[in-house]
Amino acid sequence: MSQAHRAARAFLAQYGRAPLGVWSAPGRVNLIGEHTDYNDGFVLPFALPHRIAVAAAPRADGMLAVTTISDNGRAQRAEPVAVADLEPGTVTGWPAYPSGVAWALRRQGYDITAAGRDIAAAGREIAAGGADLVIAGDVPAGAGLSSSHALECAVALALLGLLGHELDAGGAPSRQEIARWVQHSENDFVGAPTGLLDQTASLCCTKGNVLFLDVRSGESEQVPFDAAAEDLAVLVIDTRANHSLADSAYGERRSGCERAAELLGVPALRDVSVDDLPSALERLPGELGPLARHVVTENARVLETVALLRAGKMAQIGPLLTASHESLRDDYRVSCAELDVAVDAALAGGALGARMVGGGFGGSAIALTSTALLDDVRRTVFAAYAEHAFTPPRLFVAVPAAGAGRDEAAEDRETDQNEHHA
Ligand code: GLA
Repeated sequence: MSQAHRAARAFLAQYGRAPLGVWSAPGRVNLIGEHTDYNDGFVLPFALPHRIAVAAAPRADGMLAVTTISDNGRAQRAEPVAVADLEPGTVTGWPAYPSGVAWALRRQGYDITAAGRDIAAAGREIAAGGADLVIAGDVPAGAGLSSSHALECAVALALLGLLGHELDAGGAPSRQEIARWVQHSENDFVGAPTGLLDQTASLCCTKGNVLFLDVRSGESEQVPFDAAAEDLAVLVIDTRANHSLADSAYGERRSGCERAAELLGVPALRDVSVDDLPSALERLPGELGPLARHVVTENARVLETVALLRAGKMAQIGPLLTASHESLRDDYRVSCAELDVAVDAALAGGALGARMVGGGFGGSAIALTSTALLDDVRRTVFAAYAEHAFTPPRLFVAVPAAGAGRDEAAEDRETDQNEHHA
């Protein structure tokens, strides 16, 4: 059953009526371009077939009521909150994610407490708006695959949908605008200083493509990525490790990059070229040099990867993926034993390249491998994990799936998912 079906069914069970609609958004992996987004740089993510779906209907009392459905079907209800009273710090834990989105949209003039008026104008009697949301999903949580951003993006689309602003319709906000509002919610309501990678990936990626995004200009290009056609596969290795260092280290790396840019007199590390790097390194204190080196070389690796993909040379991107991992491990220092073992084992098993994805300190790695060696790579990774007595990882092959949208025909999405889970 698709996540949209699960959410719709759970909504019906809870409220005794069908939702007004179901909207969903995917998790992502990033092929390359890590810790470059908040340096105004380049990223190259694709959407996973795993999605978070939100079944939604308007309320009449100005409240936001959110329920999540766990894998085993159990409902977890958050305390309903008055949307008009939402301020940073008023909601904590997982309910901060959907609440923050309602807060951020309201600040942009998309006020869900006004939904009553719009919907009353459409012929129904609702006084003050608000929303009932029921959420179901299969993006693994805590796996570095962006489940919280998928949730935020799906909530944003659901609330905008209730307000009559359907994505891509005339007059609706653009996907990139919504991505920025979701980032605003995440940064200023939830309190996580993340960049734009995950929200943009979830909203803007399309089936069959990787999204080449220049974060500074907002310009993007869909680059075809059909690994199977080249007898290749992207294997995702969810290490199931999630080290507590992740949040504090992310903020430290980010402010380190900002300090480095300031010392170099540039708006962001994006403005330092590979040619400028040696002289830049001479001007930076010892602890900031490696951070700058990672960002500058990683941006260059994204551009090289895109050039190879455009030239139809997918198999040649492997060394760039591995170089990205080494740079994240040695210069940016955001890897961990579980990620390094996954990458080393994948390479030992014959992968063409492998790297950690996302913020680091746990989460997932990806390996690009020929389909002929896929089973060898899988076996080598499992064996290395057993040898290190790590929790066995979760492995799956990922194919670029569709970005966020309204689930009009949930049946189609279901077919789509089955294809990609193969
Ligand atoms: C996390 C953040 C992103 C990005 C990555 C690292 O996923 O949410 O904004 O910075 O880490 O590339």
